Amino acid sequence: MTDKTLPAGLRPETLAVRTAIARSQYGENSEALYLTTGFVQPDSATSAERFATGEGYTYARTSNPTVTSFEQRLAALEGTEAAIGAASGMGAILMMIMGLLKAGDHVILSRSMFGSTLNLFAKEFGKFGVETTFVSQTDVDEWCAAVKPNTKLLFAETPTNPLTEVCDIAALAEIAHGAGALLAVDNAFATPILQRPTELGADIVMHSGTKYLDGQGRVMAGALCASRQLVTEKFAPVVRTAGMVLSPFNAWVVLKGIETLGVRVKAQCENALSLARWLEAQPQVARVYYPGLPSHPQHALAMRQQNGLGGGVLSFQLAGDTPESARAKAFHVIDSCRLLSIATNLGDTKTIISHPASTSHGRLSEEQRQAAGITQGTIRVAVGLEHIEDVQDDLLRGLRTLAA
Ligand SMILES: Cc1ncc(COP(=O)(O)O)c(C=O)c1O
Repeated sequence: MTDKTLPAGLRPETLAVRTAIARSQYGENSEALYLTTGFVQPDSATSAERFATGEGYTYARTSNPTVTSFEQRLAALEGTEAAIGAASGMGAILMMIMGLLKAGDHVILSRSMFGSTLNLFAKEFGKFGVETTFVSQTDVDEWCAAVKPNTKLLFAETPTNPLTEVCDIAALAEIAHGAGALLAVDNAFATPILQRPTELGADIVMHSGTKYLDGQGRVMAGALCASRQLVTEKFAPVVRTAGMVLSPFNAWVVLKGIETLGVRVKAQCENALSLARWLEAQPQVARVYYPGLPSHPQHALAMRQQNGLGGGVLSFQLAGDTPESARAKAFHVIDSCRLLSIATNLGDTKTIISHPASTSHGRLSEEQRQAAGITQGTIRVAVGLEHIEDVQDDLLRGLRTLAA
C-alpha cells in the first residue's frame, strides 16, 4: 500500500477528506474496503513476529486496514495521538471500563447521562465492585465534593440527551487531574466540529459513530480517542481479548461519513437554531431546550465551548395539566407528523422525532424522570437536512390542532 505524505498543518476540513488513506497498488481515489478476517503471512518468521509485537495485520479482531483508516481519521479530527474502534458506542464505553477500572475503584458520572451508560456503570459493573457516584450535570461543586481517594475516572456527556444540558469540560478536567483521575467525554452529540474535549483538558473522547459520524443512520460504530499509550496499553488488549471489535464494513461506512461531517453538522446546527427560535414563538410550547438560544441556562458556556454552535438536537415541552394530558398532547403532535421519522437515533440526514418519557427514558420511574426534568410533555427533535420550513409545517400540523 502507498500513501503520499500529506503536508503539515492541514485544517480539520481537509483532514476529514484526505487523511488516513492507505492506497493499494490500484491507486483507488475512494478508500478501499478490506473485507477480510485473516491476512496471509509471507512466511512463518514474519507471522511469529507480527503475533509477538501486534504490528502488521494478522486477524481482524486485532486490526484491519479499513478500521485503522477510520481510527486515524477520527484521531486527526479529535486532535488525539490515537483512536480505537468499537462495535458500538456502548462497546467503546465497555472497553473503557474494562481497560481502566477494577473492583474497588470509584467513578463519577453526571446523572443526566445516556440511560444505557448509567446502567452499564451502576448495574453491570456495580456487580463487579466498581462504585459509581451520580452528580449534577451542571454543578461543578458537586463533582468536586464527590471525589474520593479511590476515584479513577470522571465521565461526562455534553450536551446531554434530551434536555441539552452543558457541562464545563475544562473545570471537570481540573477536578479529575487534581484527584489523579482521568476525564472522559462522550462527544457523540457535539462531534469534533463543535468541540474537541482534549483541547479543554479531557484525557479520553468517546464516540458513538452510529450518530453524526455515520450521519445517515446506516451502521453501528463506536470509538475511544486518547493518547497512544492509553490506546495501546489499556484499550487495544481489551478489544483483542473481549472482541467488541468494529467491523471493517461499518468502519468503511463511517470513514466515508466523516468526509461530510463538517458540512452536515453545520447545516444541522443552522436548521436546529431556526427550529428552536420558531418553537419558542409557538403558543402551545411551554419551553424549548437548545444551547443556541439565549434562554438556555448554559448558553454562554455552550457558545464558548462549542465553537459558537448549538448542535443538531433540541427538545421542547408542551404545556399540560396532568402527566396523562401532557402525554396525550405529545403523542398527538408526534403522530400528526407526515414527514419526520418516529425513530430511535440522531445525527441522521432525516429529522427524527421522539417521546423520551416512553422510549429512551421509559424505564425510569415518573419520579426519576421528573428529577431529570423530563416530563410526559417533552418531545425531542434530532434535526436533519430537510428544508426547515417543511419541518416546521410538519410540527405545526399537530401543534395547531391540540385540544386546549
Ligand atoms: C450520548 C450517547 N452516548 C452513547 C450512545 C450509545 O451509542 P450506540 O447506540 O452506538 O451504542 C448513545 C446512543 O444513543 C448516545 O446517545
